Amino acid sequence: MRVTLFGASGLLGQELVHELSGNGKSGEQLTALSVEDADLRDHGRVRDVIRDSRPDWILLSAAYTDVDGCESNRDLAFAVNCEGAVNVAEAAREAGSRLMFLSTDYIFDGSKGSPYQTSDPRSPTSVYGESKARAEERLLNILPEVCIARTSWLFGHGGKCFPATILKLAATRPEISVVNDQRGSPTFTCDLASALVELCRASARGIVHVTNSGNCTWYEFAAEIVREAGLPTAIKPVTTAEFPRPARRPAYSVLSPDSLHAYHIHMPEWQDALRRYLGSAPTASVVL
Ligand SMILES: NC(=O)c1ccc[n+]([C@@H]2O[C@H](COP(=O)([O-])OP(=O)(O)OC[C@H]3O[C@@H](n4cnc5c(N)ncnc54)[C@H](OP(=O)(O)O)[C@@H]3O)[C@@H](O)[C@H]2O)c1
Repeated sequence: MRVTLFGASGLLGQELVHELSGNGKSGEQLTALSVEDADLRDHGRVRDVIRDSRPDWILLSAAYTDVDGCESNRDLAFAVNCEGAVNVAEAAREAGSRLMFLSTDYIFDGSKGSPYQTSDPRSPTSVYGESKARAEERLLNILPEVCIARTSWLFGHGGKCFPATILKLAATRPEISVVNDQRGSPTFTCDLASALVELCRASARGIVHVTNSGNCTWYEFAAEIVREAGLPTAIKPVTTAEFPRPARRPAYSVLSPDSLHAYHIHMPEWQDALRRYLGSAPTASVVL
């Protein structure tokens, strides 16, 4: 399988490089691109790199992912996350390549209260979520065979993530306040990368929800992190209202795994994923 990856330097991108380059199990022919190689906003450059690499699959992990930053940079959010994705989809169509687009639980408003199905209507509450939701719609029109992999609450080696932040804070503070009224599914980039590659091999199409199993609030996630790490730090539950942020996040954004199970792919529980994250060294020797 020939794969071209956009966003290779990102949290998920690094794990996809590992999974696809032979350091993992698969050993596919990989072209790994960073923003310096191809900015998604540069239609001509995007078309050239796809034409030159002639991929069977394009993995589009690149995005402007600063959820709060998107609120004050709406044009940039849409230029990268929506128009940039459209550039890739058009180039994929020209080259006859399959496209897998990474999307987010933040396309939902969180009012449902039970796991979101792939058929539930999009209802984003943030600019980031809006830009991804719009991209999903545009891509499904341009490339009916596109695979949209929605995921949530990523953590992994090689970048900023929630467990790393909690561990850093726990080293200097006796108590950390964490919101207890947003519920979702933490997802280890290592498990996600391997599921995404399996989906490519299965020639997946349409919308697929790909997260670790189970769910928790950020408070419960933080409590599990310090417990597993054996730290004495107290985690204090607080409300979102006590910690206002520029972007409104969904209160409940658990994604149903039914669409993933249809491909016979089952993800480990998030607590198991967290234990493996805490016990493993950062992914080494990723050269871009
Ligand atoms: N993180 C989460 O919790 C989460 C949850 C749900 C869905 N997702 C989605 O999953 C995907 C991977 O997320 P992630 O956490 O790995 O993101 P990330 O660490 O922020 O990585 C994003 C990547 O995109 C690149 N990029 C940014 N702007 C670009 C542009 N204009 N052209 C080309 N490349 C550009 C970045 O390059 P530089 O590093 O050089 O800027 C980086 O390599 C994203 O599509 C995201 O929306 C993430």
